[in-house]
Amino acid sequence: MPINLPTFVVAVSVAATACVGPVLAADARQGEALAKRWCATCHIVASDQTSGNAATPTFASIAKRPGFTPAAVANFLRDPHPKMPDMALSRAETDDIAAYIAILAK
Ligand code: HEC
Repeated sequence: MPINLPTFVVAVSVAATACVGPVLAADARQGEALAKRWCATCHIVASDQTSGNAATPTFASIAKRPGFTPAAVANFLRDPHPKMPDMALSRAETDDIAAYIAILAK
């Protein structure tokens, strides 16, 4: 039986997209936009931000903590936290925000 090439190509690219999607690297720039929208009322999320809530750690200070990993922050953000509103962020959003916080350590 001859292989139907166009169908084969479509099937392979669909499969590849399905595999790559969830593994795609988190997008720190997207995370920055999310942080500025959802987190900046309390946290200082960027170096050009002048005011935040004094009792709240800045994202840069969180990034510089000894045990910091993007995975731990993403995980933290998936659970509602007593002092923080439950923002019901998606997995992709928590990964993006964690990736953004990670670059602040540098
Ligand atoms: C209503 C204010 C408020 C908002 C909005 C807020 N936070 Fe927080 N966040 C806090 C406070 C207060 C703490 C310190 C909690 C503590 O010390 O227990 C904190 C702590 C944290 C921590 C450190 C947790 C740790 O390990 O000590 C992270 C990470 C964090 N917030 C991320 C975020 C992100 C990301 C957003 C936006 C999606 C956000 N926060 C929005 C108030 C807020």
